[in-house]
Amino acid sequence: MKILFLDQSGKPGGAELCLLDVAKPYRDRCLVGLLADGSFRELLEQQDIPVQVLTGRAIQVQKDSNLLKGLSSLGQLLPFIGEIAQLSREYDVIYANTQKALVVGAIASLLAHRPLVYHLHDIVSSEHFSAINRRLIIGLANRFSSLVIANSHASVASFIAAGGNRDRVKVVYNGFDLQRYQHHADVAAQMRQTLGLGDRFVVGHFSRLSPWKGQQVLIEALQYCPVDVVALLVGDALFGEDAFVAQLHQQVEQLGLGDRVRFLGFRSDVPQLMTMCDLIAHTSTAPEPFGRVIVEAMLCGTPIVAAAAGGVIELIEHGKTGWLSPPGDVLKLADIIQQCHSQPGQAIAIAHQAQQSASQRFNLDTTNQQIAQLLQQVVSDRG
Ligand code: UDP
Ligand code: GLC
Repeated sequence: MKILFLDQSGKPGGAELCLLDVAKPYRDRCLVGLLADGSFRELLEQQDIPVQVLTGRAIQVQKDSNLLKGLSSLGQLLPFIGEIAQLSREYDVIYANTQKALVVGAIASLLAHRPLVYHLHDIVSSEHFSAINRRLIIGLANRFSSLVIANSHASVASFIAAGGNRDRVKVVYNGFDLQRYQHHADVAAQMRQTLGLGDRFVVGHFSRLSPWKGQQVLIEALQYCPVDVVALLVGDALFGEDAFVAQLHQQVEQLGLGDRVRFLGFRSDVPQLMTMCDLIAHTSTAPEPFGRVIVEAMLCGTPIVAAAAGGVIELIEHGKTGWLSPPGDVLKLADIIQQCHSQPGQAIAIAHQAQQSASQRFNLDTTNQQIAQLLQQVVSDRG
């Protein structure tokens, strides 16, 4: 089966890192078409996955688009839509991995008579999308897609609540290459030394720097934690949130936490860094559709505390495989951090349980098989 994957981003967000793993088994018979250039293209090239930037410039469909912006973005698509439709004829399936890709994919599917699959990585709610974009997602998915693959039951529920066709949507969790998350203890110890962390209690936060990812919540919680607790913020502003980054630095300064918060920027050695941490905090203030970092923390055997909303509650069983904390609740988060700090034995036992459970539930081989079967079904139904 030949697949044309489409993704709007040149940057490696979670949806793109998921696509990297989904596309890999098809690398001798697929193309990943990007609507913008960037380091995601390089990641695909490094893994020998054929990739092509389909547009000279990024098209503008922002999550907060109003009607006018929405229509103008559709206009920007027109010059290259014919070429993409032409390209689509060489493939059996068009696989749209993001919202803008869904717009392009839907038109290409119509013109090229190829089935369209939409991988929904989002919660289709007002916290994440404007009303016009919600209508666009639902309208296109209902009208043009043969299958919607959702990254969690929470994403499915939001899709149906927004008017999406419930018969078309199937949940497949993100899968992970288990080996990538194992045996980093030596490297981790070395890293701790290089970063001058000594035996301080390290709370890691791994996410792009963006207001809804809630780095500010962890920084605030730090004031209520013992002084040897430090926070490592791993990740960068991927989608132009530079003002927010300045705000975070300001917050750290105002709270006098300069020696307890480190900004490491975007890193490609996440498993090693996670292994080095004593605890990982996920603090999204809006419901997280899935939350790759949560599963990654579990696979590394590091205790995880996460904001209890969206897909997250499908990933963690509170007190058994991690801790759940109400989104934005600074004091509760501080309390859980202290608990893990003062009872490391209990935290490690929970992390061990989480590692075993995550290895079974989020194995890439299994999730890729699920996707392969679903795609096969789509192609057979057409044929
Ligand atoms: N990530 C990374 N380097 C960083 C920060 C994050 O490679 O410096 C990865 C992280 O390991 C995870 C992904 O980015 O796989 C983020 O995905 P997630 O689902 O947690 O959130 P998203 O950003 O997609 O909403
Ligand atoms: C999106 C979501 C994130 C999810 C990722 C992979 O980026 O925001 O929660 O983990 O896709 O499905």
